[in-house]
Amino acid sequence: MTVSFVSRGKVHSLSCPRISTLTELSGLMYAAYAEVTVRHTEIKMIIISRILIRLFITDSIEINRTIYNPLLKRYIVFMKKISLTGIKPTGDLHIGNYFGAIRPALELAKEYDARYFIADYHALNTMKNPEELNSTIRQVAAGWLASGLDPEKVIFYRQSSIPEVFELTTMLMAFTSKGLMNRAHAYKAAVQENEEKGADTDAGINMGLFTYPVLMAADIIIFDSDVVPVGKDQVQHIEMAQDIAQSINANYGKQVLKVPQAAVQENAAVVPGLDGRKMSKSYGNTIPLFAPEKTLHKTIMRIVTNSQSVEEPKDPDTCQIFQLYKLFSQAGEQDALAKRYRAGGMGWGEAKEELFRVVNRTIAPIKEKYDAIMADIPALDKILEQGARKARPIAAAVVNRFRKAAGID
Ligand code: ADP
Ligand code: TRP
Repeated sequence: MTVSFVSRGKVHSLSCPRISTLTELSGLMYAAYAEVTVRHTEIKMIIISRILIRLFITDSIEINRTIYNPLLKRYIVFMKKISLTGIKPTGDLHIGNYFGAIRPALELAKEYDARYFIADYHALNTMKNPEELNSTIRQVAAGWLASGLDPEKVIFYRQSSIPEVFELTTMLMAFTSKGLMNRAHAYKAAVQENEEKGADTDAGINMGLFTYPVLMAADIIIFDSDVVPVGKDQVQHIEMAQDIAQSINANYGKQVLKVPQAAVQENAAVVPGLDGRKMSKSYGNTIPLFAPEKTLHKTIMRIVTNSQSVEEPKDPDTCQIFQLYKLFSQAGEQDALAKRYRAGGMGWGEAKEELFRVVNRTIAPIKEKYDAIMADIPALDKILEQGARKARPIAAAVVNRFRKAAGID
């Protein structure tokens, strides 16, 4: 049987018999090897594996399982997928950002090729004070590094250093309906707030807020991202990025742009704040990640509790102190504290002290690193510039692919 495949825009043909021995497989690989001309041997292996796996999946050839499984493993190892996320530098990082965004993203970076960035042009929509914006950009960058991001392994950069993102944004705009933007949560909430106040519908809404999801789609699409680790609140934006990429692919009848997927960390999807609502800068209920120890203690002591007396047994499952405690402790510690809740005789103050102990235990070493990074801003900026240098050629390739498909080349 002859099987055809496309590589680098050319159609190749291979003779594909039923494959049951390694000799037959290497014969086929050898044939493919000769067909596919790329510089690096490892890439050749990836391409060959990919062709074989695709042929197998589509039932074009039969491969014995004992050959197929190692082939698949090898393919997965080499074809790492891309994980991308960004954080807006709009204020001090808090525990919600750490568990909802930074930590899951760093976990994914172990398996994926990661691209993480500081979304500084997104922040410009709301941050108009230059000193403040300048300093928060560095704080958020230092927060990522102190939390364990390795800039040798992760491409780490500032959004504003990649002009290709803004070129792509312009192109995506041409495929984004205004109606889609009308449905974006953040924009809708701003409109609703104006209506409730009896103000003009558009009051205080800039075009940056209205077109926010398009810039975010460009951030994601520009690096052919497979997964985007975010909190639940950002899922709508990823769906919009999917819509935009799909309509572009449909228009040109081929996959010009990769369609991304959201990766939501389920067990830490919503970290509660001091008042029990979602922890968020906009609610003023945050536990900051890099506050001095004294401030951290004071903040934790401000957690809102009910009026149960010390003696009364308490329910750990409905208590935000306990929910936060779970994020910072081992199973054994959690069982012990839950027992103390249920037994009665423990006041809220004691529970908060116990929470402070575990939070500080986790945060103190991260804060130490953070302080050291913030003490050398030129070194931090250099790391971000090096990241941008690595990122730009990748971004340019995607923009060029799109320009070519669109007839603008
Ligand atoms: P804020 O709500 O404080 O303004 P951002 O919108 O800047 O926070 O969020 C930055 C990242 O952190 C996003 O990925 C968001 O989903 C995540 N995040 C923020 N707050 C929480 C939270 N309380 N629980 C889980 N994830 C959160
Ligand atoms: N909108 C995100 C937030 O508010 C930040 C962001 C900007 C982002 N661009 C992104 C997140 C691309 C993931 C991917 O938290």
